[in-house]
Amino acid sequence: MSNIKIQLRGVGRTFVARDGSRVQALRDVNMEIADEVGLDGGDIGEFRVILGPSGCGKSTVLRAIAGLDVPDLGDVLVNGRKVTGPGAERGMVFQKYTSFAWLTVSQNIAYGLDLKGTPEAEKQKIVSHLIEATGLRGFENAYPRTLSGGMQQRVAIARTLAVRPQVILMDEPFGALDAQTRNDMQDLLMRMWAESAATVLFVTHDVAEAVYLADRIYIMSSRPGTIIEEIHVPFPRPREESIKHSTAFEQLEEHVLARLRSAAGHGQVRVTV
Ligand SMILES: Nc1ncnc2c1ncn2[C@@H]1O[C@H](COP(=O)(O)OP(=O)(O)OP(=O)(O)O)[C@@H](O)[C@H]1O
Ligand SMILES: [Mg+2]
Repeated sequence: MSNIKIQLRGVGRTFVARDGSRVQALRDVNMEIADEVGLDGGDIGEFRVILGPSGCGKSTVLRAIAGLDVPDLGDVLVNGRKVTGPGAERGMVFQKYTSFAWLTVSQNIAYGLDLKGTPEAEKQKIVSHLIEATGLRGFENAYPRTLSGGMQQRVAIARTLAVRPQVILMDEPFGALDAQTRNDMQDLLMRMWAESAATVLFVTHDVAEAVYLADRIYIMSSRPGTIIEEIHVPFPRPREESIKHSTAFEQLEEHVLARLRSAAGHGQVRVTV
């Protein structure tokens, strides 16, 4: 039995710019993400990646699922229910570090738990665990602006995970990080995801990042943005960085890149091989 977490059916979105011109950002986007059922009968979420050139509508898809934007055609369902706005079962991590400047690292991570009225002792336990897991020990009382970009993004991820969302939406969360920090963050994210059993939908325009992280990659084309192909990534987990240098990995990267190049549109595609 499968449990469908996210479903998009015939989703379309046209924006009207200030000068009155229309941009068809999405056309007929269809997607279905179901949980696997684990040996213990619990749900295990998938890790899916949307890959596509700049401007193809990746953020628009995520925002529709997050309930931050309303498509003008089709349906977006989460847990079988139509999305009408944001909800606690969905968490989003943005490219820009979105921690609250006036709260410390601990207070940022605890923010959603405070809103939910989580009892103090349980809150402390969750925050402490996430501080440890994200390597932020020693920085509990620091303010975000005093931290590096990678550390700020760890705070944002910990804050999102704290409330244990069933669905985690990530919009190029590592796009602004240097290569080594990015690699470290990918590994951190995979470890935390394995622990959380959440369904992750992760947006990137980096081919290597997509192949390394995903169970399945959706390739989008631009103008209008639509999913042109789904590619299954067969590598077993846990994955280690060394697989990035294996022949199988490089071959899949080549394949994904070829599909991406065949996508209609004129967006920029970053290649990191
Ligand atoms: N609020 C808006 N008003 C007008 N046009 C918009 C709006 N939001 C997005 N668009 C347009 O819709 C298209 C898709 O935008 P979107 O941000 O979803 O692309 P993207 O794939 O996330 O791009 P990037 O890789 O640069 O982040 C683009 O042409 C963009 O200019
Ligand atoms: Mg975007």
